[in-house]
Amino acid sequence: MCQARFAHQARLQSKPRLLDLFCGAGGAGMGYYRAGFDVVGVDISPQKHYPFEFHQEDALEYLRLHGHEFDAVHASPPCQRYSVCRTIGTYNPQEYPDLVGPIRDLLAGIGKPFVIENVPGAPLLCPVTLCGSMFPELCTPEGNQLRRHRLFECWFPICMDGMECRHNVTGRRLPTVGVYGHSGGSSNRDGVKFFGIEAWRQVMGIDWMTSNELSQAIPPAYTKFIGDWLIRAVEGSRLTDPTPSLAAKPGRRGRWQT
Ligand SMILES: C[S@@+](CC[C@H](N)C(=O)[O-])C[C@H]1O[C@@H](n2cnc3c(N)ncnc32)[C@H](O)[C@@H]1O
Ligand SMILES: [Zn+2]
Repeated sequence: MCQARFAHQARLQSKPRLLDLFCGAGGAGMGYYRAGFDVVGVDISPQKHYPFEFHQEDALEYLRLHGHEFDAVHASPPCQRYSVCRTIGTYNPQEYPDLVGPIRDLLAGIGKPFVIENVPGAPLLCPVTLCGSMFPELCTPEGNQLRRHRLFECWFPICMDGMECRHNVTGRRLPTVGVYGHSGGSSNRDGVKFFGIEAWRQVMGIDWMTSNELSQAIPPAYTKFIGDWLIRAVEGSRLTDPTPSLAAKPGRRGRWQT
């Protein structure tokens, strides 16, 4: 009994631990770290630029074996199955696994607060949408904004008051920076100049990734915002219950979700 209370006290004094599944080079992980979590990443491919503890493993397998060791989980399964390029040419989305459902089922069974992130079109439940234009710091010095909508299915209360897209607020109609494909270069046919890796790094708020890693990443500002709400849910359940259960379901987009 005393030992259990001692262990609980020790847990309260340590930082909460977040499992970052499909972690890539750590865009999402960095935001959770800045919100106050100790972050551990898992990816099936080597990630030599990942800035935290890293395990090269299959995400579902790792979650099955170790999920219960963490206070919260974030999952960014690959988006090729759902992204807009599924309508282009010979691209066949069926060649890519549908991981959202299996990940959600496993996470719900573990009973800790969790986030599933993906692109518009992915089968997420009542997700909130974040956009580069919601974060004034995510732009080039000239004012070019990041346009990168990402959906977050959040199984804890989150308030979206004031989080509206602010596209072209200056009225200057500056080109936005799209972080996909390859950075730099130009298209003679369209007369379009593409932004280089420096602009990509500025608008993503990430200075440690290659262009390939950047094109897959979540801006840390997005997960800092999500993480600030997640850590409240985690701290609350840690105070009251050593084995927290899900207190909330994902709700309607925006406002309070409880
Ligand atoms: C969209 S990227 C993640 C980007 C990352 N969240 C970030 O913000 O930088 C998806 C990642 O999933 C990884 N992946 C694909 N299948 C996987 C699996 N079965 N288990 C673990 N990782 C996997 C890929 O290697 C890729 O790095
Ligand atoms: Zn937007």
